[in-house]
Amino acid sequence: MAPAGSALHTPMMRNHTTATPDGLATVPLLDLLANRFSASDFDPHHELDAAAVDVLLDAARRAPSAGNSQPWSFIAGRRGDRVHDALVRHLAPSTRMWAPRAALLIANLAHRYIDTDTAGGTEELIEYSEFAHYDLGQAVAHLTVQAASMGLSVHQFRAFDRDAVAAEFEVPTTWEVVTMAAIGYPHGDSPRVPAGGHASSTADRRSVADVTWAAAAHGF
Ligand SMILES: Cc1cc2nc3c(=O)[nH]c(=O)nc-3n(C[C@H](O)[C@H](O)[C@H](O)COP(=O)(O)O)c2cc1C
Repeated sequence: MAPAGSALHTPMMRNHTTATPDGLATVPLLDLLANRFSASDFDPHHELDAAAVDVLLDAARRAPSAGNSQPWSFIAGRRGDRVHDALVRHLAPSTRMWAPRAALLIANLAHRYIDTDTAGGTEELIEYSEFAHYDLGQAVAHLTVQAASMGLSVHQFRAFDRDAVAAEFEVPTTWEVVTMAAIGYPHGDSPRVPAGGHASSTADRRSVADVTWAAAAHGF
């Protein structure tokens, strides 16, 4: 593990600017956002202490949510503990190649339904919040930015057995295991995406113009 404050473990401070469409003015983009990427190679010797994990979860829980419903929960395992071992068992082959080396694995859960057990023992599922997935994603985004400020990379992924994780941790049917994330110090020249992994990278993004709904084309 490189010493604290080394170039490897501190966020890079490249000066990114983003231009307005007419190119006249520039405003700075946060370095934490400009330099964030999903590492696929982690320092296998780096360990996160429990206090650092709590800081990450604190960042997540402070996220806004519809009606302050806070429809999220996290299963967090640090490398070497039993939760981490259990999560590793349910990784897909593609993520098993790199995710276990991360200091922390978390499973991200969304509160989907209200538990309405009736006297007759039948269970009716009523939606807890129509924004549960949206809010969970935002909480993980908060965690990701906090992690970046600590020199950590967060690689979210779907490639694991959601049902098996739910069964292993006895997640009730009112909650859904949605994604996982591997969190740790990037190792060396960590590739941005794993071999055989997803195609896009931080550098491969749709333009601002492309993500702006074409209102002008409709006479606005
Ligand atoms: C919901 C979600 C699911 C993802 N699933 C996977 C996955 O199964 N395997 C993987 O290697 N990366 C996965 N990723 C990571 C994306 O591929 C990655 O964020 C994207 O390619 C952009 O790269 P960047 O995060 O480095 O900017 C996932 C990301 C998100 C947000």
